[in-house]
Amino acid sequence: MNDDLKALVRTIPDHPRPGILFRDVTTLLLDPWGLRQSVERMAASVPTRPDLVAGIEARGFTLGAALAVALGCGLLLIRKDGKLPGETIAEDYALEYGTDRLAMHVDACAPGARVLVVDDLLATGGTALAAARLVRRAGAAVGGARFLIDLPDLGGGDRLRAEGIAVEALMT
Ligand code: PRP
Ligand code: ADE
Repeated sequence: MNDDLKALVRTIPDHPRPGILFRDVTTLLLDPWGLRQSVERMAASVPTRPDLVAGIEARGFTLGAALAVALGCGLLLIRKDGKLPGETIAEDYALEYGTDRLAMHVDACAPGARVLVVDDLLATGGTALAAARLVRRAGAAVGGARFLIDLPDLGGGDRLRAEGIAVEALMT
């Protein structure tokens, strides 16, 4: 499915560590047709408009912003810790090649808001789960998660679904 878009993703071996096959979406983003199709197909996979799209720094910002415009909702920035100027809440997490800490403004979403989490790629799910935990700690609901790419062997989809989060990706 979506083999036409898959052909635009470049694979770079041993980045950022030996043994990692890095799926590089910068080549897809450079392609006007690929970028538009990615956003339109992601938007078509969302049955009910959320209140907010949460884009995860950094690659999730690109698609998150475009998807928020396409769906007609606002954009919540979930950033690497230490970047946001206001009062934040933060979550530590592990990903395929390391550990990190994500943060969001504590007042970014109204209690009860429905938030769709968006990123370019789902691997172990550590990043997306940390984002979902932040949204839930702020009193909002996670209305699903969308990705361009899912690497199912790394189990992220299963981990998110176990937390009650509906996951879809354009390609595996
Ligand atoms: C990449 C990717 C996802 C995350 C997925 O981000 O954009 O956010 O890894 O991995 P996981 O499912 O195992 O958590 P990265 O942390 O490399 O940051 P970047 O977007 O700033 O390049
Ligand atoms: N984030 C986590 N694993 C990745 C991979 N294999 N390629 C690109 N981004 C990633």
